[in-house]
Amino acid sequence: MSGHVGFESLPDQLVNRSIQQGFCFNILCVGETGIGKSTLIDTLFNTNFEDHESSHFYPHVRLKAQTYELHESNVRLKLTIVNTVGFGDQINKEERYVYQPVVDYIDAQFEAYLQEELKIKRSLFNYHDSRIHVCLYFISPTGHSLKTLDLLTMKTLDSKVNIIPVIAKADAISKAELQKFKIKLMSELVSNGVQIYQFPTDDETIAKINASMNGHLPFAVVGSMDEVKVGNKMVKARQYPWGVVQVENENHCDFVKLREMLICTNMEDLREQTHTRHYELYRRCKLEEMGFTDVGPENKPLSLQETYEAKRHEFYGERQRKEEEMKQMFVQRVKEKEAILKEAERELQAKFEHLKRVHQEERMKLEEKRRLLEEEIITFSKKKATSEIYQNQSYMASGSNLKKDKDRKK
Ligand code: GTP
Ligand code: MG
Repeated sequence: MSGHVGFESLPDQLVNRSIQQGFCFNILCVGETGIGKSTLIDTLFNTNFEDHESSHFYPHVRLKAQTYELHESNVRLKLTIVNTVGFGDQINKEERYVYQPVVDYIDAQFEAYLQEELKIKRSLFNYHDSRIHVCLYFISPTGHSLKTLDLLTMKTLDSKVNIIPVIAKADAISKAELQKFKIKLMSELVSNGVQIYQFPTDDETIAKINASMNGHLPFAVVGSMDEVKVGNKMVKARQYPWGVVQVENENHCDFVKLREMLICTNMEDLREQTHTRHYELYRRCKLEEMGFTDVGPENKPLSLQETYEAKRHEFYGERQRKEEEMKQMFVQRVKEKEAILKEAERELQAKFEHLKRVHQEERMKLEEKRRLLEEEIITFSKKKATSEIYQNQSYMASGSNLKKDKDRKK
């Protein structure tokens, strides 16, 4: 085998294409109001992203996304920062007010990507991927243990997003306490089965540094955009009456470690893990929910076409069953209605018969009364006639007596 073919330039071609296309990275900041989210993001990207203070009085958590175009040399980065506004402020600690909005937001971005993927005409090449690549989880520097809210939230999110926990405002905790606090936090996360993001150790060029950084988790960070003169250099720091906390001094905090790990070394792995692990899980569950599966009965591999046909068959069967059920229900209803109508008819008929009988009886009673009356009238008429005859006879008799008296007087 001899002669130069040229495919050794493939990595360069890939780099060129990626540079042309630009990169996108989406960070979700979860943490209580005022814990230092915006300051840390500003410090990480050395930019003043405009973000206003949030109120402590929101009834539920809201997610606010802002996208920025950043440039470094000839590399373009589309950076989206998603903030949890009002996190931890609710009196009502029901999950739907507290962390459900965060879960819903992450799922909504997966869903949007899945919908694009399932389209006939896809445009994934210039699609604005809004899936969350990393969740920076801000823990209060209490020195105690994790709050229930933090545990529950991280436990719920760990299968959906790469979580990097950070101890915020780490200048508020002493060095000795910080070490104990870190150990305690990690043991709590482990004992509660919370899976945080582990920097990958499979690529030998970065395996060593990543392995050692995994031992420093959670990073204790300090954020500040203020510049303070230390020696003859201006450095990002927080100045206090008793001294200066330098953000980029590894003896003071883990800010540099976080920046190195998040931006310089593992940004691509975070993007990859999001696609291959978290999105894959969401996609699988969603498609299974919709009835798609890779294997049929008896573990036989099933193509999409076969699944579709089986689903169609199942759907038709179901539809026919439903139709039959509806028909039966209709017949049953008609029968019930008929029975009700028949019963009503029977009742009406009975009522009619009863009324007819009553009417008949009334009529007979009236007939009887009329007959009695007529008899009475006849009797009366007879009596009347007899009395008239008597009257006439007595009148005539009294008339002849008067004549006899007159004749006698004469
Ligand atoms: P909301 O967006 O309103 O929820 O606040 P936030 O979490 O973005 O906090 P922000 O960055 O606005 O910081 C709130 C306050 O904390 C500001 O006064 C910051 O100066 C201060 N702060 C930020 N980071 C640190 C830090 O590392 N240490 C200390 N001590 N204070 C900090
Ligand atoms: Mg903020």
